Amino acid sequence: MRDMPWIYAAIILLLPKACHVSGTNQTISANSDTSSSPKLYVVRNEAFNVGSDVNLTCSNKTWNEMMYVIWTIDMKYNPKECKIAFDTEGRSDDSCKDGKSLRNTSSAQSYLHIPNFSDYDVGVYKCESVYRGANENYKIHVAITVPPSISAWLERKDNRMVAVCKAESGIPAANISWSHMGNSSTVKTSNDSRGFYTVESLLELPEGMDTVNLSCVIRHPYWKGEKILVPELQKGYVLWLCVLIVVVIIVFLAGVLFFAQKKIIMLRQCQQSDDTSSPSKSPPIEDVEEVEPYASYIQRVNSIYNSSDLYT
Ligand SMILES: *[C@@H]1O[C@H](CO)[C@@H](O)[C@H](O)[C@H]1NC(C)=O
Ligand SMILES: *[C@@H]1O[C@H](CO)[C@@H](O)[C@H](O)[C@H]1NC(C)=O
Ligand SMILES: *[C@@H]1O[C@H](CO)[C@@H](O)[C@H](O)[C@H]1NC(C)=O
Ligand SMILES: *[C@@H]1O[C@H](CO)[C@@H](O)[C@H](O)[C@H]1NC(C)=O
Ligand SMILES: *[C@@H]1O[C@H](CO)[C@@H](O)[C@H](O)[C@H]1NC(C)=O
Repeated sequence: MRDMPWIYAAIILLLPKACHVSGTNQTISANSDTSSSPKLYVVRNEAFNVGSDVNLTCSNKTWNEMMYVIWTIDMKYNPKECKIAFDTEGRSDDSCKDGKSLRNTSSAQSYLHIPNFSDYDVGVYKCESVYRGANENYKIHVAITVPPSISAWLERKDNRMVAVCKAESGIPAANISWSHMGNSSTVKTSNDSRGFYTVESLLELPEGMDTVNLSCVIRHPYWKGEKILVPELQKGYVLWLCVLIVVVIIVFLAGVLFFAQKKIIMLRQCQQSDDTSSPSKSPPIEDVEEVEPYASYIQRVNSIYNSSDLYT
């Protein structure tokens, strides 16, 4: 009985290893390990546009010569390496299971296809292709290109006009320049944990400068050309002004409605009190006097009593 925990411990210790061994029991991986003593990599850097379909080629050998190809992918935001492999005997392996696949060109050249490229796919892609007699190893640093969202405006700062041009959340950082060789432009660049850059360029304008033709030029690898923005008097300010005006109008209307409703209620109450007081007084007297003299007499007596009540 005392031995039982040891047995459990042994099983627990051995189990993950056993699983791991069976998981990597691929003849392709085994081959790669034997031939991997001094691995020399050809290193390449590549960047692709977000959302594009990417084709990564490592060797220009075709399947006529090749025996197998293994991609070992170490994605930046994925803690585990994964593999995609294929050999000429038709064996394949895909531990990534995220849509990446091996494909052939029409000339039987192998490439890795990455659909809808996103920052999830950023990382180091190692490719090993073995053909008769030799092998080729590539290490490709794959980066992403994300266009920034851009804006420009004019704002007042300590009685000075400042033109601001901003390129937000782009990879890599955008380049901003001004059409006017204004004297002092300040550039602020910041980046967040996921590698997105925000660049803000401030141009102080000389007093009384004509801003008609002032524009900022933003360059980013995502765009073929450059983007030109003309800063207008602060958009945000105008927007807030509009919001404020709308709010004031709504409050005003609400106030008017409120008072109108109050007035109506008061008027109704007045009318109601008129309605309730009048029939008991004058009109019945006339009407009743003609029809029922007795009732009118009683009412008159009552009213006399009432009035005498008032005098007491
Ligand atoms: C290991 O590989 C051999 C040879 O390819 C195969 O026969 C066997 O079924 C594999 N074992 C596992 C657990 O995948
Ligand atoms: C690529 O070509 C090889 C060799 O002709 C073939 O075995 C494999 O099935 C092809 N792969 C795809 C995805 O078409
Ligand atoms: C590509 O991925 C983004 C999010 O990562 C998604 O919003 C978009 O719909 C995808 N596009 C296609 C064509 O799958
Ligand atoms: C900007 O230029 C004006 C003259 O064009 C100069 O008087 C001023 O000192 C300059 N400002 C800065 C901050 O360089
Ligand atoms: C602005 O540009 C137009 C055409 O390029 C030019 O005719 C005009 O003189 C410029 N205005 C100023 C104030 O520089």
